Amino acid sequence: AVNRDYDLATPIPSDAIGLRQKLPSYGDAHFSLFMRKLFIKAMGYSEDALSRPIIGIVNTYSSFNPCHANVPQLVDAIKRGVQLSGGLAIDFPTISLHESFSAPTSMFLRNLMSMDTEEMIRAQPVDSVVLIGGCDKTTPAQLMGGISANKPIIHLVTGPMMPGSFRGSRVGACTDCRSNWAKFRAGTMDIEDISALNEELAPTAGTCGVMGTASTMACLLAALGMMPIQGATAPAVSSARLRIAEATGTHAVQLAKTHLRPQIILTRESFLNAITVLQAIGGSTNAVVHLMAIANRHPGVAGTITPETVDEVGRKTPLLVDLKPSGDGYMTDFHSAGGMPALLHALKPLLHLDALTVTGRTLGEELARIPPQTHSSIVRPLTDPLHPRSALAILHRGNLSPGGAAVLKASAAREQRLLRHRGPAVVFDGAADLAARIDDPALPVTPDSVLVLRGIGPVGHPGMPEAGLIPIPRKLAAQGVTDMLRVSDGRMSGTAAGTIVLHVSPEGADPSSVLGVVRDGDVIVCDVEERVLSVELDKEEILRRMEERKLNMENKAHEEPWLACKKERGYRGLYMREVNQAEHGVDFGFLTAAGPGTTSNA
Ligand code: FES
Ligand code: MG
Repeated sequence: AVNRDYDLATPIPSDAIGLRQKLPSYGDAHFSLFMRKLFIKAMGYSEDALSRPIIGIVNTYSSFNPCHANVPQLVDAIKRGVQLSGGLAIDFPTISLHESFSAPTSMFLRNLMSMDTEEMIRAQPVDSVVLIGGCDKTTPAQLMGGISANKPIIHLVTGPMMPGSFRGSRVGACTDCRSNWAKFRAGTMDIEDISALNEELAPTAGTCGVMGTASTMACLLAALGMMPIQGATAPAVSSARLRIAEATGTHAVQLAKTHLRPQIILTRESFLNAITVLQAIGGSTNAVVHLMAIANRHPGVAGTITPETVDEVGRKTPLLVDLKPSGDGYMTDFHSAGGMPALLHALKPLLHLDALTVTGRTLGEELARIPPQTHSSIVRPLTDPLHPRSALAILHRGNLSPGGAAVLKASAAREQRLLRHRGPAVVFDGAADLAARIDDPALPVTPDSVLVLRGIGPVGHPGMPEAGLIPIPRKLAAQGVTDMLRVSDGRMSGTAAGTIVLHVSPEGADPSSVLGVVRDGDVIVCDVEERVLSVELDKEEILRRMEERKLNMENKAHEEPWLACKKERGYRGLYMREVNQAEHGVDFGFLTAAGPGTTSNA
């Protein structure tokens, strides 16, 4: 039979699917289709297969990424779902990021992954796309890119790892990595035990098994409506995870027909739902940055979701989920307790139930299909929360973080007295200075001191590393001090705990930063209830110090990231010149909805 696809007299319709989609390449649309077909046929596809909706599957497998070790099985299961529903599944790779194998830090590469994802979705003749992500930065990168590409997408996460076992108790990456390392540093755990523990902290494939950034982002994807609500918590190595993958393939074929694009699904209400969930799970501080970056990619939402929105929602939202680092459990416990559907049922009065989801149904309709669970010790009812409100507080008042980005996980503070504290600053300039001096027995520091670390912000230490968990100086740790007020312009792992203020903006590297002119002995004031973070200096003194600093910076311009970035080459140069501050999401300005041009592919 003659293939009418090449009939020059019949224009290719604008709603063509699969390979017949109009994608600019050779100018001549018929010739482009002819070329696409002849090359893809080398993969062995038939005309029948190629006439179906094409479901792209973003394959983020890497042997450097244990959090994604199950991706090959997930790809198989998605393909089964797609093909049972009449689509053609074609997987393709993008960058894969693991937290430990993304030097200098995975956040440095998040925007690159988002660009890779956006451009590959745009470049290929896909009708909808399944984004397989899991490890911390991968899911936000994929959603940022997906929103900008604005073709139909659906997320699938790899799922959490199982907990390990050590000397009779459960352990898991990475809250227990940090708490035990702190014991080892303090000399209360010996080298044999810490080595034995190393074997057990990540015992299976999958993402960190506590409410760290990966689990947080998985829950937020469900709350945003970009993933079925059962999709967040099933363990990576469970058969449930594979069935979710199969169902995701089915949904993706549906999406190719409904054309529900992320810019249609996501509204301000979807983000408010996500923030409500973020507060109720005591989620990762990193999620605040990612949510800003995601919202600011969306032309209809950008600018309406700010760190202050996170704070406002927090004041109305109690902490309901009892997982480490804020509580005690592991992700497997949350899954057994009903996972996200159970939590969303508990949170119902606080949610916007008419927000649309990727299935084409609203969040309320999705919930109506799943009976509510009885409450458990892991998912508490609104009437019996673990923490009354504001698991994450944004310290947007005071003079130290005028950008308003400073975030503190109040629910993971170990000592309540530190939530209202004044003390003298002990200032460190960058991670190297910290490493050199923090354990110096002569360091003038007491349990009331405020440890200040600057120079680890988006530009100052490109990628804004998770170095905000400033260790307790060894001499104090040995005296039994386990928590101190700590302030920085960096991030910390979502699995970490302590009274730690992060994301101070403008960052220290910026010549207009107040953090940049704080000196040893200046009094720092933190009042979480009042949302205040200040240094007790008057305006004139701050301005005088800034002027002085600017002169010094110009004299050693090559050492100052803020000035030297103009001369950096490659991606690092692009990153340093273009990255915005924490309150905007640490994205590149030119990728945001407010940036140049249009982000829509519609
Ligand atoms: Fe990948 Fe923690 S290292 S989720
Ligand atoms: Mg992490």
